[in-house]
Parts: sequence; structure tokens; C-alpha cells
Amino acid sequence: MTRHFIVIGNPIAHSKSPQIHQVFATQVDIDICYQRQHCPDNAAGFSAVIEAFFHGGGVGANVTVPFKQRAYDNCLARGGLSEHAKIAGAVNTLLLNEAVLKNGGSIKDAIYGDNTDGQGLVNHIVRLGWPLSGARVALIGAGGAARGIILPLIEAGIAQLTIANRTVSKATKLVTDLSAASPTIAQHHITTCATTDLTGQFDLIINATSIGLSSNTLPLADDLNCHYAYDMMYGRALPFLQRFADRGAQTSEGYGMLIGQAALSFERWTGHAINVEQATTTLSKQHE
Ligand code: ATR
Repeated sequence: MTRHFIVIGNPIAHSKSPQIHQVFATQVDIDICYQRQHCPDNAAGFSAVIEAFFHGGGVGANVTVPFKQRAYDNCLARGGLSEHAKIAGAVNTLLLNEAVLKNGGSIKDAIYGDNTDGQGLVNHIVRLGWPLSGARVALIGAGGAARGIILPLIEAGIAQLTIANRTVSKATKLVTDLSAASPTIAQHHITTCATTDLTGQFDLIINATSIGLSSNTLPLADDLNCHYAYDMMYGRALPFLQRFADRGAQTSEGYGMLIGQAALSFERWTGHAINVEQATTTLSKQHE
């Protein structure tokens, strides 16, 4: 039996998800068809696409830019959200809630949203061997990408979190909103500051801004240092990582996070555990 999956985005032609999920399926020896699904960027179009997919027997869908928030709104109004999706305010993984279907609910009312992005990043950092327990962490950025990784980082046992952003008020609002939504986050003392005011030594600094998409570079203080620097972007030159590498830090771009979040979605949909390191090796051989 072939299980059907899609990744929904706009644009979507560049998505690496079909290739990644095919490697997972081969690893656990199941038959899948995973396709890219273009979608018009409006609420009615998005609902129509996901409902048609699940009505047609689809098992699971990934959601990417610009639909993660729309998918959240959709699941909030109907099929429900996981804790991580609620706190992230965004959904990257859709599946059917079997309990709703068993109780006679419609497919439309059973479309459930999860978010594996943040845990995918944490799992990648663990695979890199970078210590998170007790770590002093600075997170740069206060948009959707930053929001999704705060709860998984705290759950991983970090000791201190500073959120730095160009617009400090957005970082402060993010902390207020998340503390109201999650007791785990509320118990954690999170400081905020302007990106230019971020100074001193951290164990880990994560760039969750979208600056890598432009030719700009983040204005960082001269005495800002860390042991490990992570940029959630991938596949392009990242001056943020170069700056810390030049000062002796270990660095990583976010490709492993992409594979990590995909593996968690796949496990959620199929019940099969993925050996992510093995899959990463297979994927890098395919690129050679
Ligand atoms: P995403 O969903 O990728 O997080 P977003 O919600 O638009 O996208 O957030 C973009 C983040 O990158 C924000 O933290 C933004 O800072 P502001 O809140 O001050 O806008 C940050 N960012 C984008 N371009 C930047 C730049 N040129 N310099 C510094 N920060 C930048």
C-alpha cells in the first residue's frame, strides 16, 4: 500500500522535502509518494487544498512558507493543535486526528496541527554533540522562526536565555505572550535586549532572523563571543557563522534542522523511527 504525503507552499518547486522523505521511507522499507503541492496564498485556497488532500486518502502534509500561520488558524478553529504548535503559533505538520474520525467527525474537523521545527533544531544540536543542558543561550530574532524554538530549548534544559532583536519591543512582547501561554516558559527567566546590545560570552548563539535572505549582516558587538554558533538558514554563505568561526567557535547552518523536523513529522505519520544520521549521510551522497 502506498502512503501519500505532500508539502504545501508558495513557491514550492525548490522544496527538498520529497527527496528527504523518500530517503526515510527507503530506510524503514515502506512505500510512499511524497509530492510538492503549490497553493494560492489565501485562506479559502489553503483550506480547499488540505481538505481535498485528506479526502483523497492522504496521510500527512508538511506546511511551509507562507502557510504555517494559516495552518495554525485552520487547526485552531477545527481539528486541534499540539502543545508545540500552540506555543509556536505555527503548524508545519498536518495529520488526521483518528479520535475525531472514530466519533463520527468529518475529515475537515479532524485535520490536526503539530510543529516539529523547534524539536528538529534541538535534535540537530544534540546530534552535533553541542551541550544544551545548563547552557547560556542567546537567540537573535523575535519572529516566527525564533518563537518556535523557545519551548524546545527550555525543555532541553538550557540555563539562561537572552532574546535579542533589532526591534526590542517585539522580543519583549514575544516573552510576555509565551509566558502567558506556557507555564514551562513562564517559570524561566528570559531577558531581552537590542541585537546591538548583546555582549559577553555565551555557550550557544542562534541566528533566527531572516537577515541571511538579504545581503545585510547583523550589527553585533565586538565583545560578543560563543563556543557554538547556529544559523537556522542553510545553503548560502552565512556571514553570521563566519564571524564566530573566525573567533574559534564551532558553527552549523540549519540543514540538519530541516532533516530533523522532517524525521519527526515522518515518525508522527508512520510510527517508524528514523536514524537521522544515516539518512543525512545518504542525502549528502545524493548531492555529490
Ligand atoms: P521568520 O518567520 O523567518 O522569523 P519574521 O517573523 O518576519 O520571519 O521575523 C524576521 C526576524 O528577522 C525579526 O526578528 C526581524 O527583526 P525585527 O523584528 O526588528 O523586524 C529580523 N530581521 C530581519 N531583517 C533584519 C535586519 N536587516 N537586521 C536585523 N534583524 C532583521
